Parts: sequence; structure tokens; C-alpha cells
Amino acid sequence: MNDDAPRATTVAMPTLLGDAAQRSAAYLDSLGRRPVRPDPAAVLPLARLDEPLPESPTDPASVLALLDEFVSPATMATAGPRFFGFVIGGSLPAALAANWLAGAWDQNACLAKVTPGVAQVEAVALRWLVEVLGLPPRTEGAFVTGATMANFSALAAARYVVLSRAGWNVEADGLFGAPPITVIVGDEAHPTLLKSLGLLGLGRNRVVRVPTDRRGRMRADHLPPLEGPTIVCLQAGNINTGEFDPFGEICPVARAAGAWLHVDGAFGLWARAAPQLAPLADGVELADSWATDAHKWLNVPYDSGLAFVREPGALPAAMAITAEYLPAHQVERSPADFTPELSRRARGVEVWAALRSLGRSGLAELFERNCRQARRFAALLAAAGYEILNDVVLNQVLVSFGSPDTTQRVIDAIQADGTCWCGGTVWQGRKAMRISVCSWATTDADVELSAMAMLRVARCVGSRS
Ligand SMILES: Cc1ncc(COP(=O)(O)O)c(C=O)c1O
Repeated sequence: MNDDAPRATTVAMPTLLGDAAQRSAAYLDSLGRRPVRPDPAAVLPLARLDEPLPESPTDPASVLALLDEFVSPATMATAGPRFFGFVIGGSLPAALAANWLAGAWDQNACLAKVTPGVAQVEAVALRWLVEVLGLPPRTEGAFVTGATMANFSALAAARYVVLSRAGWNVEADGLFGAPPITVIVGDEAHPTLLKSLGLLGLGRNRVVRVPTDRRGRMRADHLPPLEGPTIVCLQAGNINTGEFDPFGEICPVARAAGAWLHVDGAFGLWARAAPQLAPLADGVELADSWATDAHKWLNVPYDSGLAFVREPGALPAAMAITAEYLPAHQVERSPADFTPELSRRARGVEVWAALRSLGRSGLAELFERNCRQARRFAALLAAAGYEILNDVVLNQVLVSFGSPDTTQRVIDAIQADGTCWCGGTVWQGRKAMRISVCSWATTDADVELSAMAMLRVARCVGSRS
């Protein structure tokens, strides 16, 4: 060993990491008491971070202190119990702690031979996921950055398979001159699904759109005739209503026609892990590929998405590469054969930790509790005379406080109030506030406190209208 090499110990790692732990714990502890939105007075000094790159080194403890001093107060409390915007979960204790440990390991998760520990943990997590989501037993999976990349990866496998059935190798020869692929999406497809299609050269607009019903579900009776290479994209969990496309009606028809069925289940696919919710997604197991997020409802740290493909070998056909300097003919599953990236962090470690710490019953409890809490929000708001615009089948609630202007003013006032945080949307032409309940940390008391704040703020806005 070269004694001149700088060592981690020269920067007193235990002290530094202890400091990081203390600051993080204090931050998390404060979240239940501080306003959910960042304090505007804390956002202004962020400009002071925009300094010239220092000419010389700064000691790591001061670097950490700077981050904590300037950034901690300027964060949105998404890790806390009363953030109901977008579809954002927190971080389960085991997942966050595993994230820290895995950060210390700093493993490049691309090669099982080189980083066998994390490869094994990820392989086990994938097996558990396939089981708990009720996917076909030989389904293969990949850890990616989020649902956008999960859709991209699964659809890359779809593109490969439907074209290879038509005698075309898209990975080798590209799309120029390839047989055309018909891509079918519901009118309510998430924009990132269309973005994934665009990245794959299949076009954001070059899709056949199928109308949806008043709940946001694809109309099975409007499915066009399916001929030639075809990919049908369905959805588990509409971003606004939480609704599910009718898999049981569409999947058998599409399968019989030889189409590839892909499901964007960024948050809704987790319903499969909870007995009370699983029937919502009946028939989803008939699909060929699925995308979901772990950073949403599984409550692991960002960034963490999951792609699953039924047909063994289809993901590697789209993703695997070889190079002289990389190990060949590995007996073990080689993680990089399944992902767009070669090098990546071992994000599956946090997924493993979340699953290992919750177990089957903990998963069901989390998803069912959040759905019960969403229904409680809807009941309290409806009882006060406000209109709930969706059937609360999952964890999403849409509420109107009257005119679009009044609803927007309530949303602005709720965000400024700071008790909780909700965003807005437009659902079938109606302005609405979205309440999305996704966090392990949300207690029933948080729901009551937040609903009371919504009602207080809405009455105040109403009295000024
Ligand atoms: C249905 C659906 N698909 C895809 C996405 C994109 O997910 P991500 O931001 O993790 O890429 C979302 C995000 O909310 C979503 O709800």
C-alpha cells in the first residue's frame, strides 16, 4: 500500500458521517413542525451559493455545514407526512439508511462479477417484486431512474420483439426502412409515456389514440383493429383519478392479435401488492411489460424506477453490449444487460431494504392505509359541501372549491399556509386541487390536520369571493 495515498481517515470520516447523521436526523425531525413549503425567507439566500468555484480545497465538514445551512431550510418537505403534491412518497427508514450505506459502498452495479454483493441484493429484490406484484414467474426486470426510463426500457424491448417477429433487427439496423409499428395509447396516457415513445423513434404524435371514459379509463369498445407489428400501451393509475384501464377486457383481445401489451403503472401497479386493492388491476398480469416507480409509492429515495418484461431475453436483446475490457460469458445475471446505462448506482439496494423491512403485510398496510386516507380526505371535503370530481378508487382525490378562479386561490392559499401542500390540475375541463396520498409517514392525524387547514383556507377564500 502506498502510504502517500490520501486516505478517507485523514478527513475524520466517523466525525463527518456522524455530523451528517445528526444534521439529517434533526432535519427529518423538524418536518412535522415546519411549514411544508420552503420558507420564502430561506429561498432568497440560496443566491449566495452562486459563488465562483473556490481556488483551493474546503474541509468536508464546512461543505456539509454550508449545504445544511442554506439548502435544508429551502427544501420542500416532501419527506414529511403532509406533502400531497404530484405523486411523491417519502423515504422509509430502512430505505434511507440503506441508501447511506450503499453510498459508502459506492458500488458500480453494472457487473455481477465486480460487485457481487449488490448484484445479489438486486436480483433478490427483483424476484420479490415479481412475486408481490403478481407478474408472470419468469418476468425479468431492471432498475432504472424512474417511470419515464422504465417505460423507455420496456418499450425498447417491445420494439425489438415486434420488429424481430416481422423479420427486422432494430438494434442492428435502426428504424430507417423498418416495417412500421402501430402504437396505440389511451387519451389519458401520461406525457412521459409519449416522451419515451419519442426517444425510441416511435414518435410522440405518431400514435393511435383511443378515447377514455369519464373516469379516465381506455374505452375497450374503441380499440382499433390490431394488425401487423403493434404495441398497445395501457395504464395502471391515472395521474388525476387513480383509475385503471380495463386490462381484463383489452389484454385478451390484444394478445390474441399478437400485439405487445405494455402497462405504465408508475404508482398504480403497487395496488397488486395489497389484497384490498389488487382487484383494481385484474388482468394486468396478461401484459408483456410493465413500468413502475419505487420512488413514488414504495417510498424509497430518488431516483428509482422499475421495468419488467415477461419474455426472457427481450430486455437484454435491446440493452446488452459487449466490449473487450468487460467480462464476457458471465454465469450470474449481469445487471447492465437489462438497463440503458452501463455504470449506475446500486439503487436496488434501497428497494430490497424497503421490501425486507415491510414484508408482505407492511406493503399491503402502506398502500391500503394511504387509500383509506384519500377516502377520508374526500369524505371530509364533501361533507363541507365541496365537490369531489373523481371516484376515489385509489390514493388520488380531485376537489373543486367552486369556480376555476376560486379553486386556484384555495390551492395558492393552502400552499402558502404550509400545513400541507397540494397542487392543481384540470380534469375534463374542470379546475381541481389534487390530493395525492403516497407517504409511509402520513398518519390519520396528519389527514385530519390537513383537511381542517383546507376547509379553513377554503372558507376564508370563499368569504372574500
Ligand atoms: C402514470 C405515470 N407515468 C409516468 C410518470 C413519470 O414518472 P417519473 O417522473 O418517475 O419518470 C408518472 C409521474 O407521475 C405517472 O404518474
